[in-house]
This record gives sequence, structure tokens and C-alpha cells, in this order.
Amino acid sequence: MSADNKNKLSFATRSVHAGYNSADHQGSLNPPIYMTSTFAFDDVAQGAGRFSGEEPGHFYSRVSNPTQEILETRLADLEEGEAALATASGMGAITATLWTLLAPGDQVLVDKTLYGCTFSFMEHGLKKFGVDICFADFTDHDDIKANLSDKTRVMYFETPVNPNMRVIDIAAVSGLAKSYNSDIKVMVDNTYCTPALQRPLTMGADIVVHSATKYLGGHGDLIAGAVVADAETIHQIRVFGLKDMTGAVISPMTVFLILRGIKTLQLRMERHCKNAQAIAEMLDQHPAVDQVFFPGLKNDPWHQIASLQMDDFGGMIAMELKGGYQAAVSMLNKLKLAKLAVSLGDAETLIQHPASMTHSTYTLEERGEHGITEGLVRISAGLEAVEDIIADLRQALGD
Ligand SMILES: Cc1ncc(COP(=O)(O)O)c(C=O)c1O
Repeated sequence: MSADNKNKLSFATRSVHAGYNSADHQGSLNPPIYMTSTFAFDDVAQGAGRFSGEEPGHFYSRVSNPTQEILETRLADLEEGEAALATASGMGAITATLWTLLAPGDQVLVDKTLYGCTFSFMEHGLKKFGVDICFADFTDHDDIKANLSDKTRVMYFETPVNPNMRVIDIAAVSGLAKSYNSDIKVMVDNTYCTPALQRPLTMGADIVVHSATKYLGGHGDLIAGAVVADAETIHQIRVFGLKDMTGAVISPMTVFLILRGIKTLQLRMERHCKNAQAIAEMLDQHPAVDQVFFPGLKNDPWHQIASLQMDDFGGMIAMELKGGYQAAVSMLNKLKLAKLAVSLGDAETLIQHPASMTHSTYTLEERGEHGITEGLVRISAGLEAVEDIIADLRQALGD
């Protein structure tokens, strides 16, 4: 596909074709998997040119690889960014990016609720190296304004937020950052939505990160991540954060699986969203449920902003049962079809308890401060027939 027609084709078409032309690969419909660590040079000048960046081409697979390049081109296209970098995990993408952008004395202004390991990397990792981590409620713009400072280099958030499903206004937060200091990088974790539902770079954000382990891969059979941004930022993350700091390199085999997964991304997201909407509506009416957190519900406080910035409401739901923690444990232990497992975005419906699992990196006090309640249950709506998922949830709730 040539660069000039890429955005004229629809998202579904680009998910199948962007970045790959079978004519360049002996007609092979699917991309070759280049299982190679290194690349042979014609002569010393060519090797030196590739290392210095004066000559295009691969030289070592800790930096780039032809199979990986196809995925990176496809992801950049779908997120409407200039360039992308695929990594060994979502945490590999987040850490390689932040190690590249930050220095001691810089401040990262972060939304108060984050995926547990991202929180841990910032609070227990970056802080040790002299980076100031400042938490604010990004749904409260006055709180953001009160905490922006001359030291702010990066603003970081997820939306919808893992696990409590708050929705953050990407355009408004990016606008606040840029009007304070145009050099501040606004970084959004787009794992929950994928570009099929939300494209933060078109709303003023600078950098998108993903756990490709989730919806992008889509089948629960791999761990991977990605960063999408302008070409210069991606180059810096590749040759420093990835090559020298984390070494979190993706395998070409994993790249192949993600490329296969992305071909059905839009189809799968449609079904995830439809199933999640029906599950959330059932839970919202259920007498054992205290509160459902899902932006597709009209009574959800984030419904309006989600309707504006997301193409649909996603496949993730959170809820609190009336009996709190004990009721949650009892319900989770009774599930028969849905799997009691962390991760999300798989074909299987996955349910978990953030306080004891994905967000156990926060202490009890930290969970209290950061809005993660002990009774919260997180559901990743799978691709099964929705009546079967609902029947399983109902029996676990005691119907
Ligand atoms: C929102 C979000 N971001 C990042 C990550 C980290 O991704 P990975 O597990 O691929 O390292 C996760 C993992 O659950 C996540 O849910």
C-alpha cells in the first residue's frame, strides 16, 4: 500500500493490508517471519552506515527486524501516527519510553489510577532515580492545573482507566498540557480501546502506548507491547530506551501472531463491545450489584465524554457487589464458564479481583488513595454468545 492512499482506505481494510505487499515477498499472502539475530553487510562501509543511521537497513534484531517493521508500519497507520515501535511487553513499551524521555529532576504528572505495574514502575522505580511522580485526578482539570510545573515533562494516563473505568477527556488534557508548555509530552495508554475505538494522537496526545498482549493480539497467546508517536521520538526510544535501557525486544514469531490478530481487530471489538453492553445492562439491574462502571450505560458519569471520544464503549466492565469484598470472592469462586484470570481482550470472558491481583502492587493505603476499592470486580467481556456469559454471571450471583 502506498503512503499517500493509506488514510483513504477504511480502518478494517488497513488492519488487513497496511505495511505489507505480498508482491514484495514472492507472493506470500502472509509476512515471512525473519528469525534472525543479525544481518550480513556487503562491506564495512555498509555496516558502518547502518550503525550510524546514514544508510537505511537492519543490522541487529535488538534494534529492528523486517517482520517487526511490518507490524510497526501497520500500528502507526491504524493509530494515525508517524511511526511505531513494537516491544516484548506493554511494560517494555512504557518503560522504554519513559526512560528515554526523563532525567533526574523532571516531573511526570500522572492520573491517580493506573494499571498496577505502571504505578509500581513510577512510584517504586522512577522515583528512586530522582524523577518526581505527581498524581492528580485527570477528570478534574483544576487539579491538573494546580500540579503542572516547570519541571513537568510528561503527562500520563489511561482511558478508560484500569480498573475503575473513569474516562479522561484526551483533547482537554492535551490542551491543558500544551497551553502550559508545548514541550510537555502527553502519553496515553490506549490498551483498553485500541485504535479501533479511540485514536488519541488525533485528539492532541503525543505518544500512545499499548499492551499488545490484550486486544491487539486478541487470543491470549502472547505478551507484547507497542509505542506510537512522531518518527523522531520513536527513533530515540528505539536506539536508547529499547536498545540500551530495557532490551525488551519482541520476537518475530510474536509479531506474526499480532499481525494475524489485528486482521480481525475491528470485527472482534464490535463483538466485545456488544457483549459488554448487554452484560453491563444486566448487572446494572441485578439486585446483588451495588454499582456498575461502564461508560456505555446512560447513567454512567463518563457516558457523555466517552460518546464523544470513543467510537464504541469497549469490552471492559467493573462492578461493586452489595456485599463488598466477601460477596465478590464468593461470586468469583462460583464462575463456571468465565475464567478467573488476569489479562483482558481475549476470546474468553476473563474476570478478576484487582485488589488482590492486577493492582496488588499498590499497598492497601495506596489503593484507598488511588480509587481502587477492595470489593471491585473487573470483567473482560469475551467473544462467547452473550446469553451464555450472562447465564454464568447470574448463577454466580445466586440467581
Ligand atoms: C492498561 C494496561 N497497560 C499496560 C499493561 C502492561 O502490559 P503487559 O502485561 O503486556 O506488559 C497492562 C497489563 O495488564 C494493562 O492492563
